[in-house]
Amino acid sequence: METIIAIDGPAASGKSTVARLVAAKLGGTYVNTGDMYRALTWVALRHGVDPAANPGAVAALLPGLALEFRLDAPGQPVLYLNGVTVPQAEIRAPAVAAAVSHVAKIPEVRTWLLARQRDTRSLGLIVMEGRDIGTVIFPDAPFKFFVTASPEVRARRRLLQAGETADGATIATVAAEIAERDRLDSTRAVAPLKPAPDAVLLNTDALTADQAAEQIAQTVRTRG
Ligand code: DC
Repeated sequence: METIIAIDGPAASGKSTVARLVAAKLGGTYVNTGDMYRALTWVALRHGVDPAANPGAVAALLPGLALEFRLDAPGQPVLYLNGVTVPQAEIRAPAVAAAVSHVAKIPEVRTWLLARQRDTRSLGLIVMEGRDIGTVIFPDAPFKFFVTASPEVRARRRLLQAGETADGATIATVAAEIAERDRLDSTRAVAPLKPAPDAVLLNTDALTADQAAEQIAQTVRTRG
């Protein structure tokens, strides 16, 4: 089966875990578009560019970059930047998390990534997660979900993810960082974070990741 399952939602809502499980349950390919923004942020920081202060310098890097997902093993696309695997530990580091919303609001970055994200259509049944998959990247996707969770639950989940929070972080400091990222992501001019009108809303506060994924997979199986 070839289809697109769009899973959008705010930071730390659980959508990555859920999307990965949905892809496994349906035998599809999981595509994380947040990693593309994180990879560009990582490169910018390595070039000494501060994306908040100098978005133009981030845009100027784009012509020298080749960013693509390659299917090294079935269902497991690996992100490559200029022919080299993008290191997950580096793009999930707190410095990248703090700057990535500033990269994600640069119009040239979004336009540059749009074509690369649409190219993944060739991978067959794809489960793509992000912020604007159902609204901008694949507005014609037959399956759209918007995953949410309360700020406290999201902060607790983020704290449990090793390496993604600063030393000494607490639920309160992590919740504040998440709230700031939500604010930046949902108030930006281009492709802000919001549910597509035809998305199914899924609050995961009281659900395990597997239960949430099963709800989505079941919807696809019965309608697909
Ligand atoms: O899902 P994540 O936390 O890895 O996303 C990192 C950042 O990238 C987040 O601040 C919002 C941005 N992003 C976006 O604007 N559009 C997407 N489709 C995916 C991520």
